[in-house]
Amino acid sequence: MCGIVAAVAQRDVAPLLIAGLKALEYRGYDSSGVAVLDRGEIHRVRAKGKVREMEALYLAAPLTGGTGIAHTRWATHGVPNEANAHPHIAGRVSIVHNGIIENYVRLRAELQAGGHVFTSDTDTEVMAALIDRRIGQGMHLREAVLATVRELEGAYAIAVISSDEPGLVVGARRGAPLLVGLGIGENFLGSDAQALIQVTNKMLYLDEDDVVEISRDSVQVFGLDGMPVERAVHESELSTDAVERGEYRHYMQKEIFEQPRAVADTLEARLGPHGVLPNIFGTDSDALLRATRGLHIIACGTSYHAGMVAKYWIEEYARLPVSVEVASEFRYRDAVVPADTLFVAISQSGETADTLAAMRESRQRGYLGTLVICNSPESSLVREADLKLMTRAGPEIGVASTKAFTTQLAALALLTLELAQRNGLDAQRHAALCKELQHLPRAIEEALKLEPAIVDLAGEFIHRQHALFLGRGVQYPVALEGALKLKEISYIHAEAYPAGELKHGPLALVDENMPVVAVAPNGPLLDKLKSNLQEVRARGGRLIVFADDSAGMDDMADQGVMLRVESGGMFIAPAVFTVPLQLLAYHVAVLRGTDVDQPRNLAKSVTVE
Ligand code: M6R
Repeated sequence: MCGIVAAVAQRDVAPLLIAGLKALEYRGYDSSGVAVLDRGEIHRVRAKGKVREMEALYLAAPLTGGTGIAHTRWATHGVPNEANAHPHIAGRVSIVHNGIIENYVRLRAELQAGGHVFTSDTDTEVMAALIDRRIGQGMHLREAVLATVRELEGAYAIAVISSDEPGLVVGARRGAPLLVGLGIGENFLGSDAQALIQVTNKMLYLDEDDVVEISRDSVQVFGLDGMPVERAVHESELSTDAVERGEYRHYMQKEIFEQPRAVADTLEARLGPHGVLPNIFGTDSDALLRATRGLHIIACGTSYHAGMVAKYWIEEYARLPVSVEVASEFRYRDAVVPADTLFVAISQSGETADTLAAMRESRQRGYLGTLVICNSPESSLVREADLKLMTRAGPEIGVASTKAFTTQLAALALLTLELAQRNGLDAQRHAALCKELQHLPRAIEEALKLEPAIVDLAGEFIHRQHALFLGRGVQYPVALEGALKLKEISYIHAEAYPAGELKHGPLALVDENMPVVAVAPNGPLLDKLKSNLQEVRARGGRLIVFADDSAGMDDMADQGVMLRVESGGMFIAPAVFTVPLQLLAYHVAVLRGTDVDQPRNLAKSVTVE
């Protein structure tokens, strides 16, 4: 989950590479670096920390040259320092790498035994040394890269330059994304389209095990066997505006406010008054969905929480059994797969290593088929799934997922309605749910109006070390999502519980210093939740309750804060009630002065296990 950019051009490439790295910082920001070939020599600049730290060094002593590679790192092997920052150099070769080489210990030992001296703790430097050794034995750069990647176990996307072949960059990928940007008289490699959209919108996506060689005026792709292969060119619909922060203070804030539009886009041309329109999951979806008798939903982090909401929905409205599990557990467990079970993966990026591995693993386990709900149309998950439904959130830059989550809920609501209709939900009830879902963008717009009140509330959290989030039923995953947002960006320890569990242990934590945030829309469990909140109140806990307009929760307000959220109905309430929790986490983080868009130790796209 590092970011890679590379370029071959007539102009100096370092400024283009640095601009590309800035767009990729969401993938990691522990260190960064650029290496450029100038008159047959490799020059590089590297620094610990964000791209701007490295850029300052570059501006003090600019690098010139038309062939270069660059990297922003999320540390796996070796601490985040300059020595471990990419690009790494061995002899005439320099390399940048995203992924993990699993057999690097053995390879490193062999190279050391042969006299190679390493200057970093990374697995990447092993690749540089192997490629350089092969060039020394007479191979061209591309041949040396091919021979080396055949020897590797693990995941990689790499870009490599050699001072022996100054006008070339060779890239390769397995288990980590890499694409080619096609310019006029210049070509590029990048981890994603965002890194390259400033220079071109023509993109060529590489497949697993592809090796690519780019020069100023040619792009050639090869399979692992060294034979040429064809890959289609796409015009990216990404606009440079979509990745600009605009008037907002942080990307996260912009993305929270984009939710009405993003959700409306996700529903557009997919939902009519009488139900979900035909074939929105793909032209082959009918037979698979008709045969589906149960679902296993697999995802990580926020996407996992979306899956948990879907379990409540699908079981209630479609009466199909659903299990939800985090991908890192599922992939190593021998789960029982009942006949006619559909495997559903949810992912914003479509590149999350555990989710991707789980979906690949599912092929051996007798599932009916695979469906992916994803925000990245060209991602590995989307390309490998049988059925797909794209969320149309647009690029999400902030590490904390916001619009990705609510658009996932919109997509999962469509899946619920589709399955409910196929499995005999009463037509009137179905139509009412469709109507509610159509209203979701408006309801989110209303919820966003709570921002000024939440700014006031956020002040209460500045000096807190802990917080509890409570919900019941389908609101429990919403509470989990609220707690994840708070801990992720404000570094306050937050935990979520189904409110009924409180008295089985966590209630011991409650005193006047413990803020307890409750998600309390109208619904059959509201009275139960009220009783749980009374338990908190009786122990002096500070209550922050988000309640529906007509919830009748006023008696709670004496010992805390009550904020009204108009849910727009029980079906869409999870998506609507998520919004104030996002705003709360955001404003607490702003007040605590954390790095909201790039919180410590994290990265947006987790492409390593
Ligand atoms: O791209 P994915 O949806 O597969 O990513 C999964 C998680 O890494 C992600 O949701 C993570 O938990 C977010 N940073 C949470 O805000």
